[in-house]
Amino acid sequence: MNKNKKDVKIKTEKGSMMDEWPEPIVRVQSLAERNLSTLPERYIKPASQRPTMTDDAPVATNIPIIDLEGLFSEDGSSDDVIMAKISEACREWGFFQVVNHGVRPELMDAARENWREFFHLPVNAKETYSNSPRTYEGYGSRLGVEKGAILDWSDYYYLHHLPPHLKDFNKWPSSPPTIREVIDEYGQEVVQLCERIMRVLSSNLGLKEDKFQEAFGGKNIGSCLRVNYYPKCPRPELALGLSSHSDPGGMTILLPDDQVFGLQVRKDNTWITVKPHPHAFIVNIGDQIQILSNSTYKSVEHRVIVNSERERVSLAFFYNPKSDIPIQPLQELVSTHNPPLYPPMTFDQYRLFIRTQGPRGKSHVESHVSPR
Ligand code: OGA
Ligand code: NI
Repeated sequence: MNKNKKDVKIKTEKGSMMDEWPEPIVRVQSLAERNLSTLPERYIKPASQRPTMTDDAPVATNIPIIDLEGLFSEDGSSDDVIMAKISEACREWGFFQVVNHGVRPELMDAARENWREFFHLPVNAKETYSNSPRTYEGYGSRLGVEKGAILDWSDYYYLHHLPPHLKDFNKWPSSPPTIREVIDEYGQEVVQLCERIMRVLSSNLGLKEDKFQEAFGGKNIGSCLRVNYYPKCPRPELALGLSSHSDPGGMTILLPDDQVFGLQVRKDNTWITVKPHPHAFIVNIGDQIQILSNSTYKSVEHRVIVNSERERVSLAFFYNPKSDIPIQPLQELVSTHNPPLYPPMTFDQYRLFIRTQGPRGKSHVESHVSPR
C-alpha cells in the first residue's frame, strides 16, 4: 500500500510522464489496413496469455440471460425470481446479460453504427482527438504508460458523460453528424438502467434500495464511455484485443458487436466466450461494487480475443462512484466475523494505478486488500 501511494504522488506531479505516452502511438487501424501477413512484435503476447483456440474450447457458451420485464413495474413491486437470478449471477459470475432492459433497440443499433462510422474515418481525420494518459479522453491506442509494453490489438475512444461539468462536447467526435446527439441520449438511457440495477444490488444484500446509490454519491455519480475498435488481426492466435482485466469502476454496461463475438469471461479458471444475445446488454460488476459489497459480488476478469475475418466494435459504458468520496465495504455488511477486506480509497486514487499500469488481470483490486 505505502509503496503504491508514493508511486501515485510521483506520477501526478505536473509535467510528469502522465502528460504523454512513452512512445509514438501507432493506430491499430493503420496496421490492419496494410494487410500484413505477420503480426508486429509489439502485439505478440507471451505464450501464457495467448488465447486458446482449440476446437474443444468452450466456444460461445452463454452467461446467464435475465429478462428484466416486470422488474420495474410502476407500483414498486419486484419480481423475486428475477432478483434471485441477479443475485446469483453477481456472486457466481460477476457477469450477466439483460433483455427487456428499457433501452430502445433502435438506439442501441444507432449508437453502435455511429461509432462504427467514426472508426471507419481515415486515421488522419481522428488524430485531432488524440488522447493522453492524464485523462484518457479522446482517441487512443494503448492503455498504460510502461515503455516497451506488449500492446493490445485495438483502438478506442474514451469520453466523459457525467458529471455534467466533465461532459465536453468538444472532446466528443463531430462526425458522423448524428453521433453526439445519439451518444448523449444513449448515455441518459443507460444511466437509468444502471440506477435500477443499483437498487436490485442493494436490496439483494438486505439493504435499503438506495444504499448503493448513496454510497456512490447519490446524483453525483460519474459515467463514461469507452468504445473499442478491434480491427481484423493477421495472427489472432498470438494477440489479444484487450488483455485480461477487471473493470475498475462500479458497473459496466457493455453493448457488444451483434455479429462478431470476442468477449471472454473467466469462470473457474477457464475462459468462456460470451455469445451475445440480440439487443441484450452484458452487465458486469466492477471493482468498486466488489469493494462496497465486501467481496460478496465479484468483479470478474475478462478479456477480448480478435479474429482475421471480421472487425468488431463494442461500447463499454462505465457507471462509477463520485470520484472523490472514499469507497469502502458498507458498514452493514461487516462485523467482527466478517471484517472489511478493503481500506477506504477514492475512485480518483484507485484509477491512477490503472491509468499508469494498463490492464493487469485482477491485481489492482487484489493489491488493495487491507493488511491483516
Ligand atoms: C472494456 C471491456 C469488452 C469488449 O472495455 O472494459 O471489457 O467486449 N470490453 O469490448
Ligand atoms: Ni472491461
